[in-house]
Amino acid sequence: MSAQIDALVAQLLGEISAAGSTAELADVERRALGKKGELTLLLRGMKDVPAHERPEFGRRVNEAKAQVSEAIERCRATLEAAEASRAAEHDRLDVTLPGRGRRPGRPHPMARVLDEMCEIFIGMGFTIVEGPEIETRWYNFSALNIPDDHPVMDEKNTFFLPDGLLLRTETSAIQARVMEAQPPPVRILGPGRCYRRDAVDATHTHTFHQVEALVVDEGISFADLKGTVLQFFRQMYGPRVRLRIRPDFFPFVEPGGDVSFSCHLCDGPGCPTCKYTGWIELGGCGMVHPNVLRNVGYDAEKYTGFAFGFGLERMAMLKYGIDDIRLFYENDIRFLEQFG
Ligand code: PHE
Repeated sequence: MSAQIDALVAQLLGEISAAGSTAELADVERRALGKKGELTLLLRGMKDVPAHERPEFGRRVNEAKAQVSEAIERCRATLEAAEASRAAEHDRLDVTLPGRGRRPGRPHPMARVLDEMCEIFIGMGFTIVEGPEIETRWYNFSALNIPDDHPVMDEKNTFFLPDGLLLRTETSAIQARVMEAQPPPVRILGPGRCYRRDAVDATHTHTFHQVEALVVDEGISFADLKGTVLQFFRQMYGPRVRLRIRPDFFPFVEPGGDVSFSCHLCDGPGCPTCKYTGWIELGGCGMVHPNVLRNVGYDAEKYTGFAFGFGLERMAMLKYGIDDIRLFYENDIRFLEQFG
């Protein structure tokens, strides 16, 4: 008899501790101690117990009831506390708050300007090509007619890598790659990342982007260069801008020049954007040097060409009125969100 009571108590204690809510606990309580509960029924069955065993039996059953109801009370206190705190948590949830919408991404300002530039040049019949950022001395220097004593050869200017490789210093490195791969005519636009050992400030970074253009065919002249660049400037910065090319030297062009357009903001008198000069310089240009054509096996007597290279960061800064190049690389969401 005693063993039977012990087993029942053990079973009930197990059910009590397994109860996950006050409702489940109340159910266990009813089954144990209710009018038809198992312990209640045991006590009622006392009449069937032999008289001499009754006192001991009654004592055991009462002990069991006390043990079970104590366990129920303890468990109830814990469950009630948990339920109260869950309810409080629920009340804290302010269902009138607006939902947390997803923030869609947007193209980076430089990607936007590049897309726009590519559209303009595709409209003029150009093909977009890219080259590797890790280059050989041949494509970055020698094929471009850059002599060994040129400053760009200096370790102070170029990131040299092992095995004669380097990080390309200008997108002009694309030129010889394109020409080696195909016969004339060539009409390509080559955007890409470039690297120079420059200290970082508001207008310089060691890692930046250029966009190269190269056209080679029979009868290409300086007028084609001017017409193409002017057409681009007008579509990019407004129909009234004018073009200015001043002589400059780059080993891979002859004649060479620097390219500016009339300030799209002040149109002449001067403002902070054009540093009060009325002109904004974007990069270099020129007629492809015959040595470069010969280096890739083109007939330099038959073919002529022009090339130019512009800084993409600078183009984007002008387009959006951004005055610090570092903003492009800091990934500050407050900056990036302004371009949508
Ligand atoms: N690659 C030159 C630079 O980085 C620009 C340039 C490109 C000049 C093509 C002439 C022709 O400054």
